[in-house]
Amino acid sequence: SQPQCPLLFCTALCWSLLEQTQAQVTLVVTNGNLTCIKAELSASFFIPYDTANGTTPVRVELPGTAKVGGNSSCGDGARLPELVAEFGDGYSLGLTFSTNNSLYAVMSLKLQYNLSDTSVFPGANRTGVVTVETTSVGIVARVNTTYRCFSPSTVSMGGVSVTFSDVKMEAFMKGDDLSLNESVCLADQSITTAPPQPPPTTTTAPPAPPPTPPGPPVQGSYSVSDSNGTVCVLARMAVQLDVSQYSASLNKTIHEVVNLQPNQTKSSGSCEPNNATLVLSQGGATNLTFLFTLNTTSNRYHLMGLSLVAFWPDMAAPFTASNMSLDYLSSSLGRSFMCSSEQTLAVNQNFSLNTFHLQIQPFGLTAGQFGQAEECQLDQENMLIPIIVGAALAGLVLIVLVAYLIGRKRSHAGYQTI
Ligand SMILES: *[C@@H]1O[C@H](CO)[C@@H](O)[C@H](O)[C@H]1NC(C)=O
Ligand SMILES: *[C@@H]1O[C@H](CO)[C@@H](O)[C@H](O)[C@H]1NC(C)=O
Ligand SMILES: *[C@@H]1O[C@H](CO)[C@@H](O)[C@H](O)[C@H]1NC(C)=O
Ligand SMILES: *[C@@H]1O[C@H](CO)[C@@H](O)[C@H](O)[C@H]1NC(C)=O
Ligand SMILES: *[C@@H]1O[C@H](CO)[C@@H](O)[C@H](O)[C@H]1NC(C)=O
Ligand SMILES: *[C@@H]1O[C@H](CO)[C@@H](O)[C@H](O)[C@H]1NC(C)=O
Ligand SMILES: *[C@@H]1O[C@H](CO)[C@@H](O)[C@H](O)[C@H]1NC(C)=O
Ligand SMILES: *[C@@H]1O[C@H](CO)[C@@H](O)[C@H](O)[C@H]1NC(C)=O
Ligand SMILES: *[C@@H]1O[C@H](CO)[C@@H](O)[C@H](O)[C@H]1NC(C)=O
Ligand SMILES: *[C@@H]1O[C@H](CO)[C@@H](O)[C@H](O)[C@H]1NC(C)=O
Ligand SMILES: *[C@@H]1O[C@H](CO)[C@@H](O)[C@H](O)[C@H]1NC(C)=O
Ligand SMILES: *[C@@H]1O[C@H](CO)[C@@H](O)[C@H](O)[C@H]1NC(C)=O
Repeated sequence: SQPQCPLLFCTALCWSLLEQTQAQVTLVVTNGNLTCIKAELSASFFIPYDTANGTTPVRVELPGTAKVGGNSSCGDGARLPELVAEFGDGYSLGLTFSTNNSLYAVMSLKLQYNLSDTSVFPGANRTGVVTVETTSVGIVARVNTTYRCFSPSTVSMGGVSVTFSDVKMEAFMKGDDLSLNESVCLADQSITTAPPQPPPTTTTAPPAPPPTPPGPPVQGSYSVSDSNGTVCVLARMAVQLDVSQYSASLNKTIHEVVNLQPNQTKSSGSCEPNNATLVLSQGGATNLTFLFTLNTTSNRYHLMGLSLVAFWPDMAAPFTASNMSLDYLSSSLGRSFMCSSEQTLAVNQNFSLNTFHLQIQPFGLTAGQFGQAEECQLDQENMLIPIIVGAALAGLVLIVLVAYLIGRKRSHAGYQTI
């Protein structure tokens, strides 16, 4: 139908743009005439680094100009086969392979990057080449087959993560080119709209990281002080982010639930007479801002604005969501708002915030302490349920007792008539 055409065109455009920025690289390691490792892949790196102002994340793509470096080898008795892709001064990506003659795997993944490169890491507070490495990579395939994984998959090493996509590779090769038989990764097996491929063969299941539900978030304590060092926003809460984002590589909207880790989260903000902000920042990659306003006529405050800027490893671009006309967490000046129950604060169709065990107060704190608490409706209802259940049970006991007494009287009367 007509109205969908521009949308389809846009999607096609986005795909071609994506393919342009995500360079596909072909890397071959040989020993004389023998090819032992061949890889066709795209990779991007998510690297947080320290500046004078805190931690900033940067995204680096494996460029199309990446070359097989001199440290690559087909291995021998003393060392394992290794593919080292070099891309610029001080940058390399290394994959070491091992096998037990039925399966082969990427034993370790190593990334080197150069903090002295100010075009990529502006304002880094140190220089030099940094090496990060991990041995849990999760790339496993059967010998004499090509490992195939078109879906993006992310490997973390410390704060740095590597996202591979459009991967076809083989090590311990017997022929000159990739085997037509494939070991397809789990993520690809779940995609029904796979591009036309040679008929898939029976596959081993490489250990792909399963999407684990995060469990309940941990309660953190956060505060904001004004220029005089007086606490002007105080909060105790457990926070969970519920984010929907479109994944171009998967061609669908994916839904992520992420807990804020209090031990990695810093609070900051500002206080004006009639408004106050609380900014929770987790590792430079997640910034969550609360904006409170005070109505000086009614002497009540409420949460007017919530905004989220997140740049997570699996994102192609930073995610942003903001709504500045909300009405949540309303209470009186000088009192705190309290809600032990789970609350969902909807921000827009792509983002909502779940809070648990919350107590928060902007404005009118005395000596940095919470004022008297005003409990939320949900908590009051939750308190009411046990009371109602208790009353109902008591009523039931009473009815049974009365019925028993009446029954006893009747049977007693029955004995008398015999
Ligand atoms: C490479 O191939 C050439 C011609 O096919 C052959 O003459 C040569 O011996 C081979 N070298 C090795 C190391 O196998
Ligand atoms: C760089 O910044 C981080 C965090 O801000 C700090 O922990 C580290 O000591 C700094 N390093 C240098 C060399 O200044
Ligand atoms: C190559 O190997 C040498 C010696 O093991 C090491 O110092 C160097 O960092 C390696 N280069 C790369 C790009 O891995
Ligand atoms: C190779 O390793 C896999 C997984 O660790 C195991 O299931 C398999 O039996 C091993 N094969 C051989 C020949 O050792
Ligand atoms: C792989 O192929 C080689 C040569 O074609 C063969 O000798 C070997 O047994 C094969 N290995 C497996 C596990 O299929
Ligand atoms: C740090 O912050 C100051 C002031 O906000 C800014 O001028 C400077 O460019 C920032 N530096 C970096 C490395 O972002
Ligand atoms: C800070 O203290 C000064 C002097 O006590 C006072 O005039 C000013 O209003 C205070 N500022 C804030 C933000 O409370
Ligand atoms: C994305 O998925 C929709 C249906 O889910 C399909 O119609 C469309 O062709 C897909 N687009 C691409 C580029 O694969
Ligand atoms: C943060 O807390 C979690 C559990 O609450 C723990 O697993 C993790 O190791 C802690 N991280 C740091 C850096 O303390
Ligand atoms: C907060 O209040 C100050 C003055 O009271 C005003 O200048 C500022 O624009 C307000 N900020 C917001 C976000 O409303
Ligand atoms: C979060 O805020 C910090 C400090 O303002 C900034 O350096 C960082 O880039 C922000 N993160 C995102 C994802 O915008
Ligand atoms: C403040 O509260 C009064 C009384 O409830 C209301 O009439 C007024 O519209 C409120 N002002 C704002 C800016 O919300």
